[in-house]
Amino acid sequence: MTARIVVLTGAGVSAESGIRTFRAADGLWEEHRIEDVATPEGFRADPALVHRFYNERRRQLVGGTVEPNAAHLALARLEQQHPGGTMIVTQNIDDLHERAGSRNLIHMHGELLRMRCVACDHLSERLTDSSVADACAECGGALRPHVVWFGEMPLDLDTIYDALEACAVFVAIGTSGNVYPAAGFAAVAAQVGAHTIELNLEPSEVASTFAETRYGPATELVPRWVEEVLA
Ligand code: OAD
Repeated sequence: MTARIVVLTGAGVSAESGIRTFRAADGLWEEHRIEDVATPEGFRADPALVHRFYNERRRQLVGGTVEPNAAHLALARLEQQHPGGTMIVTQNIDDLHERAGSRNLIHMHGELLRMRCVACDHLSERLTDSSVADACAECGGALRPHVVWFGEMPLDLDTIYDALEACAVFVAIGTSGNVYPAAGFAAVAAQVGAHTIELNLEPSEVASTFAETRYGPATELVPRWVEEVLA
């Protein structure tokens, strides 16, 4: 079924679960140089550093300290109960949407709990720390986090644009609008006549491209909006 509601999520949807966002004053990019830990060049220069960076993030997910919050749960309920169909496109590499129960889900920036072979692209699940010593089970090649870095193409863009061009409602939740192509999705959906909504703590960089905006914490805004849609 074509998804009539497309939901884009960013770091803000997981913030209240205890996962840091990128661009806040205490955000992840305040402490790390993006070039060092989130680019192919950074990985080539110091792969051990990049493995350590993502190991720290992965331990949060696997250690059980982080749980889906009311926003993730409301979106899963929307998918289960909205007859028109719902697709979530997340920029997040955590697994909180799937743990909440979402199934029609695209991880456009990859997944922290998977590794990818640099030689043959084989994907493998990874719940423990990774290191430069790890090798692909298929071909013996080196493994990298299955995360889209700056300068790389996001995943599944064809499927995402097909959904945007067919949707009736596009909602962006907890994303700052700094990173394209995701920051341009509202404009694409608006072009085909979809109603566009921004749900965020504060106006994003692309707030003016939305027809409707609501500001506050995701755990309050998202359950309320889902209630309205399902009413
Ligand atoms: P950012 O850190 O850029 O933005 C997070 C947004 O969430 C901000 O606009 C906050 O105001 C908002 N926010 C924070 N707490 C919130 C809450 N409790 N409820 C609602 N909103 C809240 O994160 P993203 O927009 O996801 O890419 O960043 C996009 C991409 O940039 C990431 O996927 C990552 C990063 O570099 C890659 O690593 C490829």
